[in-house]
Amino acid sequence: MQPVAIFPVANTLGEGVVWDDQAQSAYWTDIQGRTLYRLDWAKQALQKTAMPVRLASFGFIGGQASFIGAFEDGFALFDPGTGQRGRVLAPEGLQAGLRMNDGRVDRQGRFWAGSMAEDPALHGQAQLYCVAHGAISTEERGVSISNGLCWSPDGTICYFADSIRQVMWQYRVDASGRLGMRREFAVFDGSTCPDGATVDAEGYVWVTVWGGGRVLRLAPDGRTDRVLEVPVAQPSCVAFGGADLDLLFVTSAQHGLPAPQTGAGDLFVYNVGVRGLAESRFKIDGWPENPVLED
Ligand code: BGC
Ligand code: CA
Repeated sequence: MQPVAIFPVANTLGEGVVWDDQAQSAYWTDIQGRTLYRLDWAKQALQKTAMPVRLASFGFIGGQASFIGAFEDGFALFDPGTGQRGRVLAPEGLQAGLRMNDGRVDRQGRFWAGSMAEDPALHGQAQLYCVAHGAISTEERGVSISNGLCWSPDGTICYFADSIRQVMWQYRVDASGRLGMRREFAVFDGSTCPDGATVDAEGYVWVTVWGGGRVLRLAPDGRTDRVLEVPVAQPSCVAFGGADLDLLFVTSAQHGLPAPQTGAGDLFVYNVGVRGLAESRFKIDGWPENPVLED
């Protein structure tokens, strides 16, 4: 399948793509480039905003124009138009050599993000956090590189990956919203690993295969349903967008490639014939300050 559009942004580490159904725009971050991107799909217009520090992932906020971000050093509200950040809440265990990474708002309006070891000596010391009602809780430990966070349409299954362990897990979410038993959902071989992921309206998981040049569509039982080959080795994150939520936006990265590759770091858009779900919005109740920006 050929992309319907390619945006030659040449990101060092394009990540965290999410579709804003209100603004009809895709937003993503170049983590290493410290830049937030916005693509207004109707206008086909790209806008870039410099970030004060590396922004790893983010979510939209219900009723507010600010976003909630997982920055390298912790969680903060920020203005996507200027990059101005509010107070930074550093989670427990986020020490030098670790930084925040993949994140997403769950179906209940909580923002989850996990950390990753940039220093290999800290493998196994990253964590998965949940931000709700103004507090940050640790929900998983023993992680090396957090990735692949997404939820089933009804929110009762959470997907989460550790790229270094080349595994994606599936967790039951109990009635109180906590993660229950986990089981292996997908394993990756060779030098490939799971990166960003999302769930479509049929409950299938679309996961980027970093190092493998493809995006997989996996059934809820883990079976591979479709393989979407992409023209770059390191696709990094996916989101459904467009007026009908049937376009798949795929970010990619140059960072870590053994040799330069044409198109690496660009944004690819595919018409995959499957619909996604609108992204949930973070519930800001209990956050310890007013948003940096009113809607
Ligand atoms: C991280 C990268 C990492 C990649 C593959 C991304 O989410 O931000 O630093 O190399 O996953 O593991
Ligand atoms: Ca990622």
